[in-house]
Amino acid sequence: MTTDAILVQGARKRYGDKDALAGLDLTVGRGTVHGLLGPNGAGKTTTVRILATLLRHDEGLVRVAGHDVRTEAREVRRRIGLLGQHAALDEELGGRQNLEMFGRLHHLGARRAGTRADELLERFGLGDTGRKPVKQYSGGMRRRLDLAASLITEPEVLFLDEPTTGLDPRGRGEVWDSVRSLVGGGTTVLLTTQYLEEADRLADRISVVDRGRVVADGTADELKARVGVDRVDVVVRDAARLDEAAALLPVARADVDVDAGRRLLSAPVKDRMASLAETVRALGAAGIEAEDIALRRPTLDEVFLRLTAGEREPDRDASRRKGVAA
Ligand SMILES: Nc1ncnc2c1ncn2[C@@H]1O[C@H](COP(=O)(O)OP(=O)(O)O)[C@@H](O)[C@H]1O
Ligand SMILES: [Mg+2]
Repeated sequence: MTTDAILVQGARKRYGDKDALAGLDLTVGRGTVHGLLGPNGAGKTTTVRILATLLRHDEGLVRVAGHDVRTEAREVRRRIGLLGQHAALDEELGGRQNLEMFGRLHHLGARRAGTRADELLERFGLGDTGRKPVKQYSGGMRRRLDLAASLITEPEVLFLDEPTTGLDPRGRGEVWDSVRSLVGGGTTVLLTTQYLEEADRLADRISVVDRGRVVADGTADELKARVGVDRVDVVVRDAARLDEAAALLPVARADVDVDAGRRLLSAPVKDRMASLAETVRALGAAGIEAEDIALRRPTLDEVFLRLTAGEREPDRDASRRKGVAA
């Protein structure tokens, strides 16, 4: 008996001569929300489909809710829920009827299916609109109904494959709230996303995936701390003195990013407080006035770019592009 809800070791999946998964490792603790963050084509959906027993992997160990997806697929299926990028709702039926239907499909009795539908509608803020035909739902409402449908069977582990792709900001916010409410219920959630902000907001831990492998993993803060060194940002009052100020920062001149339009200098620093003090001192000594000086952690965007950039081997990139074009 393991305490991990998901355990993946060295998973490989090949399509022709192409590796969709190239030795992927993943561990997700029970009752946590884990973000699988990566660009298009990274292998997120392939991973989810393997975990959900919809696709067989070529190599590696894959266990979900304590069971092997290959040899105990039935046991796994009994314990999971899946929200795909496109879910099958009946447009003409109301939200409640859709949920009831899903319940019946999953062998809940008529009464149980009805109460479960009501519970879920309530939980996802759809209580008032349960009778409305789904075709009249907004994008955010539909996705919440999808979520509710994937929870009919009270899964131990829920897979959400890009749950907010295609939604407007409002719909995205609604779905975020719904996902957060799942965590309270003790469900383990594996969420794939291309959005750094989404992973940052929802996930307890994040695995960054690129080309079928995990290139980094940890909490959002750990990832930021790993790649990045903190940064010092300086807004110089007099644009004419920007270059002079850049040369005075306590890092190599080449490492200073200059944004002339915003009169902003930004530089990675190793020793936070000492660098801040040195910056203030050097600018003061030169009589250069700063409007603002701030220490900050790198953004997740900066982290992501650096993590995936580190993986790029120029020759492999070139052959890949050719492969896509062919
Ligand atoms: N059925 C398939 N046949 C061939 N190649 C596939 C198939 N499914 C996925 N791939 C390839 O595997 C890689 C990973 O795809 P996918 O898991 O869908 O990525 P993501 O979900 O992260 O966008 C991509 O390069 C994709 O083109
Ligand atoms: Mg995908």
